[in-house]
Amino acid sequence: MNLVDELKKKAAHRAVEFVTSEMVIGLGTGSTVKFAVERLGELLNSGQLKDIVGIPSSNQTEKLAQGLAIPLTSLDEHPVVDLNIDGADEVDPDLNLIKGGGGALLREKIIAQVSRRNIFIVDQSKLSSQLGSLFSLPVEVIPPARRTEENYLKSLGAAVTLRSDNDGTLFRTDQNNLILDADFGPISDPIELARLLNQRAGIVEHGLFIELADDVIVAEADNIRHLKREK
Ligand code: A5P
Repeated sequence: MNLVDELKKKAAHRAVEFVTSEMVIGLGTGSTVKFAVERLGELLNSGQLKDIVGIPSSNQTEKLAQGLAIPLTSLDEHPVVDLNIDGADEVDPDLNLIKGGGGALLREKIIAQVSRRNIFIVDQSKLSSQLGSLFSLPVEVIPPARRTEENYLKSLGAAVTLRSDNDGTLFRTDQNNLILDADFGPISDPIELARLLNQRAGIVEHGLFIELADDVIVAEADNIRHLKREK
């Protein structure tokens, strides 16, 4: 395993320490969360955890959890989540985040908004002084609004790329929408940008996660830092 994966695994295992039996757990998406889901599977299998149910944030996580025999449920059955564990693409000093590198931002945000506690797990490379410095902002748009929302993002100063898969075909989200990756450079006012994006009908959701993180667990080479958002 390479160093970055080891860090992701360390952060994931620390987050899973906060899971207790009978919890409803939000299961995020991505290469870091994968280690958390695998750990949950191990603890269930060994009997150290009992009666937890997971709510997957993507088809990818759903398959992973099913393969590990983790019982799954839905927000219809469990509209409140005890603990959500998810990854992030960029984390600022206020613990606001950019997410959506895997394209699962919509269901991830729905789960985060109904979770009693949100723990995000990252390796140290995701920490940044200003969101947008490291990662473009993923914006999920309904297909007929692709051009209009691209123009809107450009009018706000972003360089915009329509996301495609490695083979060149258009990337589709689990909801069959498109992703525009909007490079704003460092975002001076993420709260205001989120407000501007929220008011557009063609934008289904964007990857700015403002005031949603309760905890961020950062794995560094020789240390794990547990950051808590001041409220
Ligand atoms: C999925 O859409 C994203 O929000 C992920 O949570 C985020 O991209 C982090 O992924 P990695 O853990 O793979 O870096």
